[in-house]
Amino acid sequence: MDLSTTYMGLKLKSPLVVGACAPLTEDIDNIKRMEDAGAAAVVLHSFFEEQLQKERLELHHHLTHGTESFPEALTYFPEYSIFHIGEEEYLNHIRKAKETTDIPIIASLNGYDLGGWLEYAKAIEQAGADALELNIYFVPTDMNQTGAQVEQTYIDIVKAVREEIKIPLAVKVSPFFSNMANMAKRLTDAGANALVLFNRFYQPDIDLDNLEVVPHLLLSTPQAMRLPLRWIAILYGRLQVDFAATGGIHHGHDVIKMVMVGANVAMIVSTLLRHGIEYLKHIELQMLQWMEENEYESIAQMRGSMSQLNCPDESAFERAQYLKAIQTYHPVWDKRV
Ligand SMILES: Cc1cc2nc3c(=O)[nH]c(=O)nc-3n(C[C@H](O)[C@H](O)[C@H](O)COP(=O)(O)O)c2cc1C
Repeated sequence: MDLSTTYMGLKLKSPLVVGACAPLTEDIDNIKRMEDAGAAAVVLHSFFEEQLQKERLELHHHLTHGTESFPEALTYFPEYSIFHIGEEEYLNHIRKAKETTDIPIIASLNGYDLGGWLEYAKAIEQAGADALELNIYFVPTDMNQTGAQVEQTYIDIVKAVREEIKIPLAVKVSPFFSNMANMAKRLTDAGANALVLFNRFYQPDIDLDNLEVVPHLLLSTPQAMRLPLRWIAILYGRLQVDFAATGGIHHGHDVIKMVMVGANVAMIVSTLLRHGIEYLKHIELQMLQWMEENEYESIAQMRGSMSQLNCPDESAFERAQYLKAIQTYHPVWDKRV
């Protein structure tokens, strides 16, 4: 059975890729365990624009005010005390991950605007990363900023990074655009080699005991995969770009579905946080079993077979399917059905 695939020109032994996640990839031993459990590539946890800003602010204050006024300066960025690694440490982490494993290591840079932090992409390339995933995470709240302006920021960031580096560039975005298809095309034209669909915006919660807004992170459920599944199906074959699916991929069957709609790779996070890194072996086994039972010999053979272009019913991914779904739904307690 041939599970091999390609992703942005990288040859991978399977579509199973561990997605960006600090608790999973901060430890080099874990990255080695991922390789041993069957990961075809690993995306490192993100290095954040704010981390770089914090370091540069610290340096600036040391140089201009002396160290005694420094604690005061840091109060402008109280929340940034959460960062446990700096820019040099992140680069060392890439080097160590490369020395320890034989699988591609994809670094991740996470930010929201044009600025000096984008130059850091070059340092990531020089540290030996096989590719860069750029996570643009931006929650616009300015009522005077138009959607077109927000979209242009994404495009400008991608173009700026593309100019900095030669390694493959993946762009991870959220689905919150008026026309995702247009945005996918513009990101591709701006130089993205892959689209990572989709970024999940973590929604804050309210702690009723302390009356505080808290960043309560929820792991995904399998329902989350429907959105990337739909969009990869719609976009596959229409753009010169690869696709990574992320969100709700928990089982071997989920990976197969994503490949069938056109994904080159499936990124897995929540289910490894729940069940452990070795669960990757189980996912691979489920894929192999399904392929054997259904007489598939390779990933290449199934890729895109259920995309919109190859689907007998083109409307299946669009509005018609929504009408059908809500018109034919019956509650389980409805005795008439
Ligand atoms: C604890 C945790 C940390 C994460 N850290 C990052 C990160 O550093 N950068 C990033 O792009 N995505 C990050 N993500 C998002 C994941 O890469 C992934 O896109 C998302 O969790 C959906 O996949 P899943 O359903 O398999 O969890 C993180 C997710 C979790 C749960």
